[in-house]
Amino acid sequence: MAQASNAPAELPTEEELGRAGLKLAVEGHVARITISRPERRNAMTGRTWRTLAHIGHALPEDVRIVVLSGEGDTFSAGIDLQMFTPEGVDGEKSMVAGILEGTSTDQDVEDYVEELQQGFLWLRRPDLVTVAAVRGHAIGAGFQLALSCDIRILGDDAKFTMKEPALGLVPDLTGTKPLVDIVGVHRAIEICLTARRVEAAEARELGLAELVVPADELPGAVDDVVAALLATNPEAATATKALLQQAARNTLEEQAAAERRAQVGRLRALASALGAQQ
Ligand code: CAA
Repeated sequence: MAQASNAPAELPTEEELGRAGLKLAVEGHVARITISRPERRNAMTGRTWRTLAHIGHALPEDVRIVVLSGEGDTFSAGIDLQMFTPEGVDGEKSMVAGILEGTSTDQDVEDYVEELQQGFLWLRRPDLVTVAAVRGHAIGAGFQLALSCDIRILGDDAKFTMKEPALGLVPDLTGTKPLVDIVGVHRAIEICLTARRVEAAEARELGLAELVVPADELPGAVDDVVAALLATNPEAATATKALLQQAARNTLEEQAAAERRAQVGRLRALASALGAQQ
């Protein structure tokens, strides 16, 4: 996973962000990323995800919170379906052209998808808390982007759909693991293989939303959560997120040991702060 220490100096330019259908505002400890192609219901392309990865690499080190949302009343209609035509989108590589022409090997296709997945993977970094603010549709890649975030706050008009199987594809943008982690394998099979809409109220019941609020109150609800997150000690937040992320795959003994190790560092920091006061 990308770490801030590998950061290139520069965030994407306004021109690069615009071509990727993104907006970015970094203010203090908070970065706000908006998917912004409202005329295409915020459909995303390969460039969107490469630019998301670029943002992740280049965020200033003091950014602690990333809020992802969609312009207007849709989060995202998922991948731009034009990506599945031989022409692709606006000069961008099509998902199928190389296969059609017989020039792409299986490894080439895997490498391409791996590159696109980087736009989603960095959202799990322990030094960040990532928040998806979802209004309206979050379809396919849009749903997977929301699933990549730590916290999902939904307007009551939000709807999640895992559309890929209905299009003859699999969800491949890192969403299957968090979906199964949250709802369990049986519900995940049902949601994906029926490609049905999961509306906000059900999303909350299933644990796919931490909070659901009236759609017009979404920005205020997100600001409240961001303020509460910022009130927490940053090093403790990073260590706690790292601890929680490994809990599901650890045995109880392994997790208890991980807690002890993490607490040593925290207690040393507390002691040295106390020492500095004396
Ligand atoms: N790609 C490209 N254009 C899209 C788009 C998409 N995913 N979704 C919407 N648009 C465009 C429409 O073509 C339309 O363009 P025109 O005005 O030029 O006709 C415009 O956005 C508005 O769309 P609608 O009129 O359909 O708007 P609506 O409000 O009636 O419906 C919607 C909204 C439910 C999102 C509907 O547009 C829709 O179902 N879109 C397709 C969703 C989809 O199948 N996405 C792919 C999922 S799979 C994936 O993301 C991952 C993967 O790898 C396969």
